[in-house]
Amino acid sequence: MGTYVITGGASGIGKAIAEQLQNEGHRTLAVDIQNADIVADLASPEGRDAAVAAIIEATGAGLQGLVTSAGVGSHVSNNTLVTNVNYFGTVELIQKLEDHLAEHNASVLLVSSNSAPMETNPEFIHSLLQGDAGGACAIAEEMQGHPVYSGTKQAVTIWMRRNAAAFAGKGVRMNAIGPGYTRTPLSQAAEDNPDYSESIKQFIASIPVGRPGTPEDMADAASFLLGDRATFICGAMLFVDGGHDALMRPDSF
Ligand code: NAI
Repeated sequence: MGTYVITGGASGIGKAIAEQLQNEGHRTLAVDIQNADIVADLASPEGRDAAVAAIIEATGAGLQGLVTSAGVGSHVSNNTLVTNVNYFGTVELIQKLEDHLAEHNASVLLVSSNSAPMETNPEFIHSLLQGDAGGACAIAEEMQGHPVYSGTKQAVTIWMRRNAAAFAGKGVRMNAIGPGYTRTPLSQAAEDNPDYSESIKQFIASIPVGRPGTPEDMADAASFLLGDRATFICGAMLFVDGGHDALMRPDSF
């Protein structure tokens, strides 16, 4: 039994992952902007530094895994915030914890999205992958709506794929899940927004298995990918979306 750190662990998917891991007998530490074991604002470099220091201090005796679930949804109109939380709050945090993760042979699970493959601005993706926060936020501010969100998730997933081999060489297994539409406070906020509610209803109705996802669906996939039954799975992006990605992109895998 080990210790898992879960960003965004105060709500939704992150909270369900924490509960699932606790049910399996593990200790969990939530990192979140509120109601968490480690309270930190992952939108800012200072907040990320504070989170890293607190994580290292709290897990000196062992760290079995890190889950990055903190994120803000596509209904949030502050494109700089979406960029900073969803991309840098994930990638920079992992980068700064790399040595600590390697020291403990921890596994990492990034919570991406099944919207990651959607069309977005290639320059935005390039800036993100260069680690150019200022440039990426400037591009994001010129963009409209969902492509900012899906762009951050695309870049997070590409970053994971590009770095999975090097991390594996250091004993750190990285994978991602791509949740489809999942009922959480984040998706509820979008459903409650009159600009989005009708299109969301149609989107939910088109999910092949006939229902939206639950945080527990994501937690089951997360626990599997993090744990001992998945030690040969590395660099994978697992869509947990009721078949939506297969419906939208049947020829891509
Ligand atoms: P949620 O809103 O229930 O949970 C997100 C958590 O992130 C919250 O606890 C929030 O406080 C935390 N957070 C936000 N900004 C933060 C910051 N600056 N610093 C620290 N923590 C911060 O949302 P949900 O649905 O559980 O989302 C979790 C992840 O799953 C997100 O990355 C989201 O993009 C992703 N996702 C969600 C889907 C859905 O349909 N709910 C679909 C696909 C991906």
